[in-house]
Amino acid sequence: MSQGYCASLQCGKETDSSLKCPICLKQGIESVFCNESCYKGNYKAHKALHSKSDDDDSPYDPFLKFKYTGSLRAHYPLTPKRYVPPEIEKPDWAANGLPLSEQRNDRLNKIPIYTKDEIKKIRKACIAAREVLDIAASAVRPGITTDEIDEIVHNETIKRDAYPSPLNYYNFPKSVCTSVNEIICHGIPDKYVLKDGDIVNLDVSLYYQGMHADLNETYYVGEATSKEAINTVETARECLKNAIKLCKPGTRFQDLGDVIEKHAKQNKCSVVRTYCGHGVGKFFHCSPNIPHYANNRTPGIMKAGMVFTIEPMINEGVWQDITWPDDWTAATKDGKVSAQFEHTLLVTDNGVEILTARNKKSPGGPRHRTK
Ligand SMILES: *[C@@H]1O[C@H](CO)[C@@H](O)[C@H](O)[C@H]1NC(C)=O
Ligand SMILES: *[C@@H]1O[C@H](CO)[C@@H](O)[C@H](O)[C@H]1NC(C)=O
Repeated sequence: MSQGYCASLQCGKETDSSLKCPICLKQGIESVFCNESCYKGNYKAHKALHSKSDDDDSPYDPFLKFKYTGSLRAHYPLTPKRYVPPEIEKPDWAANGLPLSEQRNDRLNKIPIYTKDEIKKIRKACIAAREVLDIAASAVRPGITTDEIDEIVHNETIKRDAYPSPLNYYNFPKSVCTSVNEIICHGIPDKYVLKDGDIVNLDVSLYYQGMHADLNETYYVGEATSKEAINTVETARECLKNAIKLCKPGTRFQDLGDVIEKHAKQNKCSVVRTYCGHGVGKFFHCSPNIPHYANNRTPGIMKAGMVFTIEPMINEGVWQDITWPDDWTAATKDGKVSAQFEHTLLVTDNGVEILTARNKKSPGGPRHRTK
């Protein structure tokens, strides 16, 4: 009988070992490790998850020596890995953190064209992902922690017989990415309490009947948003909309970046260059690679049956990013805010279908820019 997954972030394999971290045990958490070498090799990173002392579970910053670029800090300890029932169909990384089939597919470097049947399945996954995102978004308010949002996303995903794709992907510890203010993407849900005036991006991806769906949106928390943040969020929203208008058979993927960067510049914003849109469906990430900046030379032409994401990340200040010591969280280099919107799109015979489209009841939506 398997007891769970190795708590070493570098391992994450399924294990029936009974080697438990004694400090976790004292704090009421059961973390198992495969063996001594997983335990010792990963102890520094694992230690960051411990509460500061037995009787103090107030959040603390595990990266005290790190030069943060803005005012957001990590708020550890993270909550333990959430449970996925055995009957849920899982991608290969659920067990050991490595997306092996995706890595194998990457070597082919081909853009998949989906059959009608496959598209039906992708469409179902996208509808479920939209439902989960909308439920999570309706919980966004001052006073909720990003970890509580993770719990909502996790539970709602499982209720729909789906697996939360981020969970254990290259050992990512949570089921959703929550990116607050100056965080560009891949923020890890923790004990940070959202406050009035923050912006937060929720990135929901799930795996359902063999297909991945992926979408994210940036939401306003409360009412006290700065005019710079509103401009950045609305510019990001418009950049995605303008790029989608171009999508149809025959459009070159490289043309999307020109339209996105032009609109960003007109609104005094910059475009992140490190992270790109991507193919999605049978794989969480695959070809094509879709940069969002102008004058890129990415290959490929849209054809009916292709499914991919466009997800411009737009910054108030400089485009450069730096990564936190957790190896995931990407922050702007100058600490100014960043916003992003993402859809999963299907190229049709004469245009494009937004598979993750909003509906009338979807929370969020645009705000007017103020002068
Ligand atoms: C999520 O599911 C767990 C396990 O079933 C349950 O204990 C918890 O209360 C649920 N949380 C929410 C926010 O629904
Ligand atoms: C939005 O989704 C895309 C696709 O998975 C991802 O690469 C990006 O980092 C996400 N954005 C955020 C802010 O998490």
